[in-house]
Amino acid sequence: MFTPNAWGMFSMPTLETKRLILRRITMRDAKDIFAYSRDEEVARHVLWSAQKDISEAKEYCRFMMRRYRYDQPSSWGIIEKASNQLVGTIGYMDYNEDNATVEVGYSLTRRLWNGGYMTEALARVIAYTFEAMDINRIEAQHELENPSSGRVMQKCGMRKEGVMRQRLYNKGRYVDVAMYSILKEDYEREIRDDQTDCR
Ligand SMILES: CC(C)(COP(=O)(O)OP(=O)(O)OC[C@H]1O[C@@H](n2cnc3c(N)ncnc32)[C@H](O)[C@@H]1OP(=O)(O)O)[C@@H](O)C(=O)NCCC(=O)NCCS
Repeated sequence: MFTPNAWGMFSMPTLETKRLILRRITMRDAKDIFAYSRDEEVARHVLWSAQKDISEAKEYCRFMMRRYRYDQPSSWGIIEKASNQLVGTIGYMDYNEDNATVEVGYSLTRRLWNGGYMTEALARVIAYTFEAMDINRIEAQHELENPSSGRVMQKCGMRKEGVMRQRLYNKGRYVDVAMYSILKEDYEREIRDDQTDCR
């Protein structure tokens, strides 16, 4: 009942929004990735720890390039058009083929927080996922102590489904997590025709 695209499910083509380009990560991005991934504030509510050395950013680039090669769930680098810098990542954390579901996740350099950038990126990824990938449900989760991430999900039309208590063990403690989703039918009914601004 579920057929991946002929060119591979996670082909990760370059996508564009008004202020951003989403494209595959290459080794040349390690410097920009390290620049924001070393920030403890950026890493506070994600499942990775702040990077200590640029070798960790290089390893992340290699990891992502392997995932592209083997058509596994992977992330785009987020390029700020104004500076031509990689300023974050967004992509698929998980994929359930039987249920045609993906989970998305993202992070952004602190310099750009609260400027609407991640909302712009996530809206584009949601549109791409439903338009090109034959996915029925997109999920995302955030720690309750990270409400700005929940706000991004809401602004992109995702709905809160509930709170899972102490679902994750992150940085030495169990944390409560809010689960959000958007279905293909939600997208088609409520969002598709308003998307032209984000492309
Ligand atoms: C979470 C994150 C991706 C948000 O990206 P962003 O580009 O700043 O998001 P946007 O500007 O599109 O939207 C942020 C919204 O949160 C709101 N917000 C900020 N702080 C908030 C708070 N403490 N409580 C409630 N809302 C808050 C902003 O006002 C804005 O909403 P608005 O447009 O209605 O005013 C970014 O902060 C980040 O990368 N954080 C570190 C990594 C991370 O936590 N990733 C998510 C893991 S689930």
